[in-house]
Amino acid sequence: PTVFMITPTYARLAQKADLTRLCQTLMHVRNLHWIIVEDSDSKTPLVTRFLKRCRVKSSQLNHTTPAKSLPPKGSHNRTKNRGARQRNVALDWLRETYKPGDVTGVVYFGDDDNTYDIQLFEEMRYTNKVSIWPVGFAGGLKAEGPICENGKVISWHVAWSPGRKFPIDMAGFAVNLDIILTNNNARFDPFGEVGYLEPEFLSNLTTVEELEAKADNCTKVYVWHTQTRKPRVHNEGKVPTSIETKK
Ligand code: UGA
Ligand code: MN
Repeated sequence: PTVFMITPTYARLAQKADLTRLCQTLMHVRNLHWIIVEDSDSKTPLVTRFLKRCRVKSSQLNHTTPAKSLPPKGSHNRTKNRGARQRNVALDWLRETYKPGDVTGVVYFGDDDNTYDIQLFEEMRYTNKVSIWPVGFAGGLKAEGPICENGKVISWHVAWSPGRKFPIDMAGFAVNLDIILTNNNARFDPFGEVGYLEPEFLSNLTTVEELEAKADNCTKVYVWHTQTRKPRVHNEGKVPTSIETKK
């Protein structure tokens, strides 16, 4: 089966650094198709050039998050779900590109600033419906995720908003491609409540009982919700020219 990895991305100082690290991880993964969705009005030259050099099979899409759905300037309000619309564009692209049964595959939502062990992709590759595993540094814990026995989820290791039906980060599950292709309601609600993006998406597709436990009955961490600190470039004004960083 092919892993279809969906990655929303947006322009910022560390974008190319994050994408480079991710590309060079994915280069070690067989049979993977990387779907990059830029949060922009058009495909940016930076990402186009980047993908040309990155030796991973990829498709480049774009979709801007409308300004009215962004949090007000200067606010710390994180209620707007980042990447939701971009992931939906990728899901629609899959439904337009493939008919059920065309290819065997699995769909994974992999953000551009996480850290991935390449073993993760072998864990998710054989997913009948929806598979699940823990995510490092999510939900204010060293790792957040399901507690599993005999391949099934029996409870959850979660501290933040434990009432959620599927208390799991975006990086903690994968869905069989045919489930995506046959369910038009496999999509994210960009206006959903914080933390409910994933639970709402999964509720439309499966039940907790059906989840397939991966990563050694959910005892191993193969993905971390690392976040890249904003680089400090406060000395740029002190130098007459700058080294080209756009290439
Ligand atoms: C957490 C979760 O891990 C995300 O999966 C979830 O989408 C997000 O919260 C949310 O609900 O807001 P976090 O690290 O806080 O992630 O978010 P980012 O990594 O900054 O953004 C998630 C993805 O969306 C990234 O791939 C990022 O490049 C992209 N993004 C972010 C955009 O496409 N546009 C933006 O304006 C911001
Ligand atoms: Mn992130």
